[in-house]
Parts: sequence; structure tokens; C-alpha cells
Amino acid sequence: MCESIPAMILGTGRAVPDKILTNHDLEKIVDTSDQWIKERSGIERRHILEDGKTNSDLASLASQRALEDAGVKPEELDFIIVATITPDYTFPSTAAQIQAKIGAVNAAAFDISAACSGFIYGLSIADSLIKAELANRVLVIGSEMLSRITDWEDRSTCVLFGDGSGAAVLGPAEGNRGILSSYIKSDGKLGNLLIMPGGGATHPATHETVDKRMHYIKMEGREVFKHAVRAMRDAALHALDLAGITSEELDLLIPHQANVRIIDAIASRLKLPDEKVYINIQEYGNTSAASIPLALDEARRTGKLKQGDLCLLVAFGGGFTWGSALIRM
Ligand code: ACO
Repeated sequence: MCESIPAMILGTGRAVPDKILTNHDLEKIVDTSDQWIKERSGIERRHILEDGKTNSDLASLASQRALEDAGVKPEELDFIIVATITPDYTFPSTAAQIQAKIGAVNAAAFDISAACSGFIYGLSIADSLIKAELANRVLVIGSEMLSRITDWEDRSTCVLFGDGSGAAVLGPAEGNRGILSSYIKSDGKLGNLLIMPGGGATHPATHETVDKRMHYIKMEGREVFKHAVRAMRDAALHALDLAGITSEELDLLIPHQANVRIIDAIASRLKLPDEKVYINIQEYGNTSAASIPLALDEARRTGKLKQGDLCLLVAFGGGFTWGSALIRM
């Protein structure tokens, strides 16, 4: 039996809203301080999508940039996979909205819900589709409008989140490039620690759910923090083990940007120097599923990540979900 060919990244793109909300702006909204936010999370500002624009608007822009970078036409796409917890609608899927906006007339399009780990889940699915020869060109998008589900009266969460979109086009790997290993896991028992309780079929929107502020992110930050450090560290080591690669061989770690203290803990466990760890949380805050593809595109376009480099992606999010992917760029 011939060995299956993994997926590789052919191109990436990102789009972020122009409007910026700084920590100082937040000081005027809730009882917080620039110093607390920076010290406890590393965040300095976040981008917020203007009213009237949708998740799929921003994601379509990121997608067009990724397609252009990859030299792939929209009609060549076989699948569009969108990782998001802030879809345009419960249904139809945001992926289908993007398909229409970019003219990917031949693609099957669907959303996945894996919170901050969603982009890695998407990569893993795209890799499987390509290995199984069910697809030749797959667009994976991580895109969030977290500002729309953020409780701007809750200082424990509203300082953390931001909006953004990132996309990657994948195709069959060439040479030694491609996804060397990927790993995805969940633990649904802990779902209540990070949840938007209202708006689903359990608690559809009513006056009561609105009055109880159930349509916003609720998070037990301290508990989530502990699980995130452990799960991201284990996922990072697992992807390296699967591929028989040591952390010393890595060129760049791109972790989910939730908290700079979580990132520092993982980097220290992997014994990685600062220059091998990508951090842009100061600029965007936590953009959930968009955080890794945003960073990936920035790293590629600024020359921080070059063809042939070994890059490890690792994330943790609501569900709980976590995962990792080791890629030879
Ligand atoms: N400004 C000032 N003080 C604040 C603020 C604020 N914005 N928020 C909380 N505080 C106070 C608290 O009230 C508390 O005060 P107390 O000691 O008097 O009770 C104190 O600061 C410490 O609060 P903690 O919640 O313990 O602060 P912590 O150091 O844990 O930092 C944080 C909070 C940043 C949320 C951290 O716990 C964290 O990053 N958690 C993980 C987030 C994460 O990884 N999420 C996963 C992905 S997100 C997704 O899937 C959508």
C-alpha cells in the first residue's frame, strides 16, 4: 500500500478590524487598569469589528488573501472549514456564507465548534481529507467576533477578548514539507467552566435570558488557566513525540494567545528561548479560533517563519478542547 501524502500550507492570510480598543479605553468602562491587564494577561489592545459588518465579511477578506498567497482560485477549493464560536447565524453555516462571498462554487462548506482549538481541529480534518485523497485544496479559517458575545460589564472577561480572522489554504505536501503530526482532544465534563449559556436550544433567547446576561462568555478564569497550561504542555510534547522531533529542533512555537503567562509556562517546559516563541497577544488579545492563523500569517509575512522551518502550533479552549500540529513549512 502506498503511503498517504499529508497536507501542507500553500498560503495564509489575515484580516483584522481597524478599530482599536486600548486598556486605557477599558479603564473608562469597567473597574480595571492598564497595569492589571498587562501584568495578568499581556494584553495592551484589541481590535473590534464595526457594527454592520459580519464575521463572514472579515473571514472572506482573510480567505481572499490566503488564496492569493497560495496562487489558488476560489473555484479550485474542495472544502471550506470554518472554526468559530461566533458564527454569523446558528445556521446556515458561516462557511457557506464565506463560500458565497468568495465564489468557491465547487466547495463543500461547514463550521466546526472547538473554541480556541478550532483552527488546529480544522487543520487536522483538512490533513485527513487530503491524506484520504478526498480533497486537493482545502481552505481552513479561524474567525471570531468575540466582541459581540463579550459582557462589557464583566471586568473579569471583557479585558481579554478581541476580533480577527486568519485563513490557510492546504494542498498535498511536496518534498519533506507538510503536517508531520497533529493531535486533538476534548473533555466535555469541564464545559461549564467556559461557556456562553444562552442562545442555544437549551436556553433560547427570551427576555429572561437577556436579563440574566446569558448571551455572553462566562469563564472561571483561574480554573481554565490551570487546565490550559497542563493540556497545552502535554499536547505540545505529544505532537513532537509522534513525529520523533525534539523541542530543540523547533524554529517557532505558535501558541494560542490567551495569556502571556500560559505561553511562558509552555515555552519554559519546552526549554525554548524567547525568539522561538511567537507572541502577539499585546496587539489582539484572545481571538479564540483566529489567534493561531493570525499569528501564523504574521510570522510568515514578516519572515519570522520561512519555508523549511519547523513550526509547532498548540491551543486550548472551551469544551474543553486542546490540540497541536507540527508543521514543516
Ligand atoms: N481588572 C482588575 N482586577 C481584576 C480584573 C480586571 N480586569 N479581573 C479580575 N480582577 C481581580 C479579581 O476580582 C481578583 O480580585 P480578588 O483577589 O480581590 O478576588 C483578582 O483580580 C485576581 O483574579 P483572578 O481571576 O484570580 O486573576 P488571574 O490571575 O487568574 O487572571 C485571567 C485572570 C487573566 C482571566 C486568567 O485566569 C486567565 O488567563 N485564564 C485563562 C484564560 C484562557 O486560557 N482561556 C482559554 C481560551 S478562551 C476561549 O476558549 C474562548
